This record gives sequence, structure tokens and C-alpha cells, in this order.
Amino acid sequence: MDGLTQMSEKAVLTLPGKRIELPLFEGSEGERAIDIGALRKEAGCITFDNGFSNTASCLSDICFIDGEKGILRYRGYDIEDIAAHCTFVEVAYLLVHGKLPTEPELKTFSEYLNEHSMIHEDMQNFFNGMPPQSHPMAILSSMVTSLSSFYPHIMDADPNFDITAARLISKVRTIAAFSYKKSRGEPVVYPRHDLPYCANFLNMMFQSPVKQYEIRPEVVEALNKLLILHADHEQNCSTSTVRMVASSGANLYAAMSAGVSALWGPYHGGANQAVIEMLNEIINDNMNIKKYIAKAKDKNDKFRLMGFGHAVYKNFDPRSKFIKGVCDNLLAKMKIIDPLLDVAKQLEEAALSDSYFIERKLYPNVDFYSGIIYRAIGIPTNMLTVMFAIGRLPGWIAHWKETVDNKHWKIWRPRQVYVGPARRDFIPMNKRA
Ligand code: CMC
Repeated sequence: MDGLTQMSEKAVLTLPGKRIELPLFEGSEGERAIDIGALRKEAGCITFDNGFSNTASCLSDICFIDGEKGILRYRGYDIEDIAAHCTFVEVAYLLVHGKLPTEPELKTFSEYLNEHSMIHEDMQNFFNGMPPQSHPMAILSSMVTSLSSFYPHIMDADPNFDITAARLISKVRTIAAFSYKKSRGEPVVYPRHDLPYCANFLNMMFQSPVKQYEIRPEVVEALNKLLILHADHEQNCSTSTVRMVASSGANLYAAMSAGVSALWGPYHGGANQAVIEMLNEIINDNMNIKKYIAKAKDKNDKFRLMGFGHAVYKNFDPRSKFIKGVCDNLLAKMKIIDPLLDVAKQLEEAALSDSYFIERKLYPNVDFYSGIIYRAIGIPTNMLTVMFAIGRLPGWIAHWKETVDNKHWKIWRPRQVYVGPARRDFIPMNKRA
């Protein structure tokens, strides 16, 4: 990769009775890494890094984060510039291609999105067969993987990867909107070729035979920004899952479905749903903010302040700063007074002035305010993580492609330090205690 510099200096590791030199290299933003690939062979030793938090699993040129400085860049562009000036479709193109599209390139990509927006009619039987209380993330992950059965010819990437990417980005949006309509027992609304990506989604979600839905520009703008801010975040849990699955040679759809499942957890993408549930709980508990701050600090209580803290950002999350502005702006334009926004602001203020949160560098993350925007748009709470998945899809696709295109492709297979029982003799059933 272009940005990789092999350093002349070596890292020196001293082990009992052994001293070995390990290659050092540097990424394009100056991040240094020790190549420990030969460690086991040369020193009979592996590294231990619980949760991989200090391990680079790959070389990547898609996304850059400096967690200390609060920097996030997609393909070298600052998130603030991208979110202020681009549409989600432009950002999807940027992530998949590595460059911003020209006008004709964007037009072609948008046409692909339109051409591939429908899902096979028979797939509707799946929606009908799902119990009404199914979580939309369960529907999404099963639907994404079943796309490969309905469209077997698309299992392998098209020689024109734009088509492969557009097909998936477009169909996932349709699946999400259909699952919402089905959950309400309403007829589905088909995608329209005359509407851009976000407006089309809103129309599929909220248009109804009995009530005309007005697509408001401020809502389209807010949705574009939210999806952009979620579009990639380097080696987070779901993206690493996608790359792990891709490394086995599994098809794009299998990898994306695994990404959806990994995203679902409340410590990752599921946090947006958990934040709304937490804010509602606080309101129903007489706005007892002090109690919830105390619970979050209590090591005997499993409760955490949802939407707070980040594995990488230890100063502030640049996405959350931006999102807070989008939230205030949209609610003001729509003349919405959401009591949850008030609780969120009070909770943020209380946490940011508390030494527990200050010392641990815990700040609001991308999920703290995003749910309040989605509520204003009309998205139900249990669909919030689906919205995150729609946004993250271009990033996952870019990482899948980077993995399978890698000349030095390798199946991912971490090691472990075994701490179980040493070899013991088998005990027959009649002698077991
Ligand atoms: N509330 C209370 N305490 C917290 C929180 C929180 N939200 N987050 C971290 N801590 C404490 C944690 O208990 C630990 O304390 P101590 O040092 O006394 O043991 C310390 O802070 C460090 O925590 P950690 O678990 O080692 O931190 P991490 O960087 O591995 O975890 C996190 C990151 C996001 C899982 C965690 O901050 C968390 O659970 N946050 C709430 C869930 C959430 O909002 N997730 C969305 C993340 S952003 C969207 C995405 O990209 O996934």
C-alpha cells in the first residue's frame, strides 16, 4: 500500500534468554506498528491483547481515526467537510471507490441505485412469515443473507463493482422500509425512480394510501447527514466481523449479514435504541438524573450510561458534536419539542461535570443524540439500529472489497492463551461424581 513505510530501525524484544528484533513500520498518518508475524516461530511466543484494542488486524486505506484528537476522515477527507457538503450517495461512492465522484460518475451510480432498488416479490413471503414482534435487525440480517438465494448470480462481485455495491445499498434500504410497513400491517410502498436515495426511503417508509406523506427537505438533509456520519469507522466490531467473514472467502451477502448481527449489540450500534429506552426510563422515574449517574458509576450495577464512552475516542467524538447541531436544527425547523432532548442535555451536563466520567474520558458518542433525530423523522425506536446499518453498509462493502482484493490475502485466525484443565483421564459415566 502507498502509505506504508518500512522503518530502518527495529523493535527489540527481550525475553528470558532471548533477544529478538522485530520489523517496525509506519502508516501514512505516522502510526507505528511492530510486525510480530515471526514472533511465534522465532521466540515460541504469541502476543496477548484482550479485545484486540492494541492490535492492527489489517492495512487499510479507507478510514482514519485519531481518537485522542477527535479526528475522523473517510479516504482522507475530514468528516466535518464530508457531512457538510456531500449526500450519502456521494459518500457511498467515495468509500467504495476511494475517490469523490465526478458529476457523470455520480449520475451513473445513482442510476444503478434506482435500477436495483426492487427486491424479488417472493421475498415478501419472508416478511409475512416473520412473527409480528420480530426485531427489525433479525429481519434485516436474515433478508440480507437470503438475497444470495434469490439472486444466486450476484453471489460473486460483478466485474463492475459499482453495480454490486449499488445493488446491495439500494436493496437494503427497500428491505428496511418493507419490514417497517409489514410490522404495521400496511401495504408496502415500492421505490420510485424519480426520488433520490434518502427521499425515496422516507417515501417508502411513510407514504400511505390513506395519508399523503410530504417529503420535507430538512428531513432529507438530516437523514443524509446521519447516514454519512455512520458510513464508516475503520475496524469497529461489525466491520471487523465483516472482514473476518470475508477472509474465509464467504460471499458479500454472508459477510454483510454477519455485520448486521454484530452491529445489533447495545455496546455497538444497538446503543441508539438503548439510549432512547434509557431516556424514557429516566423520564418515567421522575427525571431522577442523579440516580442514573450513580448507577452508571456503581461497579455492582450493570447499568452503563448508553451513548457515552468510546473504545477509540478519548477526547470527543466528532460525529456526536455534529449530530447535536443537526438535532437542534431539525427539531427547531420542525417545531418539535421532544422531552427526551431535554433529558439528554441534562444527563450530558451532569456526566461531563462528574469526575468519574472526566477521569475515564467518557463523552457522548454518535448514538447519544441520533435517536432523537430519528424520532423527529418518525422512525420507531426498534428500527434505530437498522438505520445505523443502512448508513454503515458502504463502509462494510469497502472493507469487504479491500479484504478480498488483498494480494496478501490470509484467512483470519487469531490465537488464544489456553487456561483450561491440563490433560486428564477420561471418566466413564458410572464413575462420575
Ligand atoms: N457508563 C459508565 N461507565 C463507563 C461507560 C459508560 N457508558 N463506558 C465506559 N465506562 C467505564 C468502564 O466501566 C471502565 O471503568 P473502570 O476503569 O473503572 O473499570 C472505564 O470506563 C473504561 O471502560 P471500557 O469498557 O474499558 O471502555 P471501552 O473503551 O472498552 O468501551 C464502550 C467502549 C463504547 C463499549 C463503552 O464506553 C460503553 O459501554 N458505552 C455505552 C454503550 C455505547 O454507547 N456504545 C456505542 C459506542 S459508539 C457507536 C459504535 O460505533 O459502536
